[in-house]
Amino acid sequence: MKIPIMYLSPGMYVSKDIYGSRGFLLKKNTQISQKHIELLKNHGVKLVNVYEDSNGALIDSIYNELRFKTMYLVERWFEDPNKKHILGSAICQVGKLVNEIMKGNANIECLTELTSIGEYTYAHSVDVCVLSLSLGIKLGYDKKTLLNIGIGALLHDIGKSKIPDDILNKSNALTNKEYSIIKTHPVLGYKIILEDFKDHVNNDILSIILNHHERIDGSGYMRGINENDIDEFTQIVAISDIYNALISDRVYRKAIPFSDAIDVVKGLGGIKVNKNIVSAFLNGIDNMQIGSAVLLTSGDVGIIYDILEYNKFRPIVKIFGSSKTINLSKDKSIGIAKLLTSQDVRSILESKRYATKSMAI
Ligand SMILES: [Fe+2]
Ligand SMILES: [Fe+2]
Repeated sequence: MKIPIMYLSPGMYVSKDIYGSRGFLLKKNTQISQKHIELLKNHGVKLVNVYEDSNGALIDSIYNELRFKTMYLVERWFEDPNKKHILGSAICQVGKLVNEIMKGNANIECLTELTSIGEYTYAHSVDVCVLSLSLGIKLGYDKKTLLNIGIGALLHDIGKSKIPDDILNKSNALTNKEYSIIKTHPVLGYKIILEDFKDHVNNDILSIILNHHERIDGSGYMRGINENDIDEFTQIVAISDIYNALISDRVYRKAIPFSDAIDVVKGLGGIKVNKNIVSAFLNGIDNMQIGSAVLLTSGDVGIIYDILEYNKFRPIVKIFGSSKTINLSKDKSIGIAKLLTSQDVRSILESKRYATKSMAI
């Protein structure tokens, strides 16, 4: 499978020889290390052929391939917005994503596992699309409506392509003027789509792009409209957008731990976003199960040992490599930083030099 360089991670195996602009770089079957990734980046390699590692852990699912491909297309369009056909191709991917998510093939809880700051906007666009589609399915929408929600979500931040990089990626506080420029991205996106992609969109999609920062209490931007004028599709994308932004690393702050992000999202229900939509969203990402692996804000890795009905997002966690269990609903100083995939667990435990023999994940 061919993947963009930004999604290459240590442990993957190269399935074809790699050449850079100045010649041979890596041999087929090499297991990728961080040094290799740097080398490939330095030589301008954009795509790499990889296959699954010997444990069959990695990414060769149709869903992940679709997700990567869509991110890659969005990234290429951001790099060169004149190439309209590229964004058109990304939009065409949404139908395939709808099919895969409807089949239950999406791994919603780990959506930020591969996102880094530099890729934030493109990865975020696709992740918000997947989260919105999953929420749309929970809310019982048909396939045609899901397609609109998915396209609107994928394109919701497209106006950021017109915001200067030094403002978009500024690591310290924005001035009032800079913030007012950022706040124009919904309108800029609306104009881009109306001018260049009119054939791909309808009013529902345009409304998502234009209104995704509006809030039901009128506190949002640009127009400060309220619940009477913000449709349900837009609110679906808005809550997915907020959640994904919270759990992602940004240039100006680190990702917020999963438990904290859940608390923030809960607090928005009925105030900033329709309460039923927020409840459905929280139910949708409640994929934590007994036995799921988690990284705690304390740095410990553990598995969910018991889930408490009254506080699902603060379960009892058994810590790897010790007999310790922590009841997160009692010890509020610790939360879940992230839900982990089996590959995450392996790399974290390997880096901590834990014995992996006893792991059964
Ligand atoms: Fe936005
Ligand atoms: Fe966004």
